[in-house]
Amino acid sequence: MTFVATAAFGLEGLVAAELRRLGFEDARGENGGARFQGSVLDGFFACLRLRMADRVLLVLKEATCLTFEDLFQMVSSVPWEKYLSVDGKYNVAGKCARSQLMSVSDCQSICKKAIIERMKKYSSASFFPETGVPFPIQISIHDNMARVSLDFAGTALNRRGYRTWNGEAPLRETLAAALVELSPWRPGMPLHDPCCGTGTLLIEAAFREGHRAPGMNRSFACESFPFFPTRDGAAMRKTVQGEFEPDRISDISGSDIDPQAIELAQRHVRQAGLEGLISLEVLPLEELQLDQDEGVFLCNPPYGERLGDRRSSEKIYAHLHSLMKRHKGWSLCAISSDPAFEKAFGRRADKRRRLYNGRLECQFLTYLSDEKKNRM
Ligand SMILES: C[S@@+](CC[C@H](N)C(=O)[O-])C[C@H]1O[C@@H](n2cnc3c(N)ncnc32)[C@H](O)[C@@H]1O
Repeated sequence: MTFVATAAFGLEGLVAAELRRLGFEDARGENGGARFQGSVLDGFFACLRLRMADRVLLVLKEATCLTFEDLFQMVSSVPWEKYLSVDGKYNVAGKCARSQLMSVSDCQSICKKAIIERMKKYSSASFFPETGVPFPIQISIHDNMARVSLDFAGTALNRRGYRTWNGEAPLRETLAAALVELSPWRPGMPLHDPCCGTGTLLIEAAFREGHRAPGMNRSFACESFPFFPTRDGAAMRKTVQGEFEPDRISDISGSDIDPQAIELAQRHVRQAGLEGLISLEVLPLEELQLDQDEGVFLCNPPYGERLGDRRSSEKIYAHLHSLMKRHKGWSLCAISSDPAFEKAFGRRADKRRRLYNGRLECQFLTYLSDEKKNRM
């Protein structure tokens, strides 16, 4: 079976590398995600383990479609009777870009009509009550190439189950996991987020350090599909749960000037099953002083998008530079959409990478400690 693990723009290569580390040697990045081959159980495994992907789609058919008739024929040729149950809810989501067929709602209706026609022909049913298990189906058309797929995740993979309260401008969990990956931090090293907000970066780093699969405690749409191997799936979930080693998590901490943000972060930490493993405190970064000689500061400071906020954001960037100067052995990474970041920080970054925080174009800037720089 062919799967695509979808990913935000700029993260496709990271997701492909993550899949290869998980044992899918053929995984390759492509526009919008990474493609890999595997069984139904492998698709479930990817849902449980992938940190940076948005969804795992089972690709059922791909073909050039220039007309609605082409689309209808393509979708009808999928053996839906093998995948769907007669009473299932067929929820069709759609996306179109740079194609002849650009009406998403029309493509969704045609896709659904083709599925029902096929089901009528190949199952003995003539009535589809749509009262049963949901089947999230996706039709996407890019540059006239249509792909119809079954979404194994259902709810997007960034919903790990620990975040129920959103603070001010929280980072998406999948992007936070990518920033952890792109930073020079590696498990075993101290990590501190001096503007930690609701704690997303810290929780994602702790998951990685503790070998905690991000999807360990949530369910996925594929688990209700009639062709899902229920017993093997339950055994796999158990194995993944057994891999979590909270004792490995140490030296991950965060601070924020806002007491409410710290309260939210504490709730999230608790809900992620990490209580007592991440230290948090209310503290302006201007006053932060840590004991460890080496480590990584990783943060998502305010961007100063509104005019009135710009000055105060620029001050924060300068304070981040002072923080680094007070911690000689520490490197610092920050994601920012603010073009004034490097100037206000007062030093050119050693590395920069373009990423998107939602629709916002950002730079992920890395400032290496002198020691790390000398080793380069
Ligand atoms: C964009 S939010 C961070 C969101 C966080 N990554 C999350 O996922 O929730 C920026 C944070 O910087 C904090 N902040 C602003 N000025 C600060 C300062 N001087 N010292 C420490 N934190 C500050 C804000 O309170 C806010 O929580």
